[in-house]
Amino acid sequence: MNEPAENLREEILDRIGHCVSDTELEQLRVEYLGRKGKLTGLLRGLKEAPPEKRPRLGEELNQLRRFVEGRIEERLKILKEDKGGKALSEERTDITLPGSRWERGRIHPLSLTMDEIIDVFLGMGFEIARGPDIEDDYHNFEALNMPQDHPAREMQDTFFVSDNRLLRTHTSPVQIRVMERRKPPLRVIAPGTVYRHDELDVTHSPMFHQVEGFMVDRAISFSHLRGVLTHFLRQIFTQDIGVRFRPSFFPFTEPSAEVDIQCLVCGGKGLSQGAKSCRVCGGSGWLEILGAGMIDPEVFRFVGYDPEKVSGFAFGMGVERIAMLKFGIEDIRLFFQNDLRFLRQFP
Ligand code: DAH
Repeated sequence: MNEPAENLREEILDRIGHCVSDTELEQLRVEYLGRKGKLTGLLRGLKEAPPEKRPRLGEELNQLRRFVEGRIEERLKILKEDKGGKALSEERTDITLPGSRWERGRIHPLSLTMDEIIDVFLGMGFEIARGPDIEDDYHNFEALNMPQDHPAREMQDTFFVSDNRLLRTHTSPVQIRVMERRKPPLRVIAPGTVYRHDELDVTHSPMFHQVEGFMVDRAISFSHLRGVLTHFLRQIFTQDIGVRFRPSFFPFTEPSAEVDIQCLVCGGKGLSQGAKSCRVCGGSGWLEILGAGMIDPEVFRFVGYDPEKVSGFAFGMGVERIAMLKFGIEDIRLFFQNDLRFLRQFP
């Protein structure tokens, strides 16, 4: 290509590349390809060229003209796709900007505790079952040997959804639901959320978590209960911790027990350093952790088991309480406030 045409080509290409709107492109088209345009000017100037060179020069210039028209069309298309040419004109990647950090999340201390509890029982061959948070009176009370007007119902202040529907006050109804559906042998834990009409304070929350467990087979005895729960508590706390079973009462177990561990703070001595009563166990040296017992024959009758043929134990524990003791947390409300300064402390 001759020199003026070559220069013009470079010039036009460069300018097309800088156009960011169709108006600019239109102006450019007029400036170069219009009647008084620069490229049109070159074409007109052909007359002055030596006759033998004219055909070749003419062909070159026409080619250039088509080429430029093509590039303008192309550029128009790009601008249309990128509405208003914003990205082309404004969007530049500033590689000096600091990146945005992705904070690493953590597992909530209650989930950590729940997972640990579940793991110990899975290790002993238990399986996991779940039940509904909204229960009926029958599963939450009746079939657990708490008939209407039974005083034990008062121990658990209940949120009612309707006459017969309520937020479960414990995970024990899952025992009933599993036994209704299946036959022994059973080794089951039921982790979940429970609700009680309690004022929120340092040790009470209207919503909290429990893990229920039970085992049913032929000839299950209190020794099995002792063995399983002692192993569990020593896995969760420390291998050499003292564990004791105290007689107690629950409507759905007979006999019933409350299970204590030696106080984690005073080591069972009942005294703090200044020889005052230990703040955590109140001086008794023991901390109550679990409720448990042998499943009451009445409960077996409700689910259609023959209490002459099968026996079993059951237990229930509060997850918040265990987490508080394990991590030394003194206020249950901290679990539910989602204060990151609190949550960040758990690995
Ligand atoms: N359901 C009882 C409660 O929430 C806890 C409990 C006690 C569960 C003894 C049991 C048990 O399975 O045997 O207070």
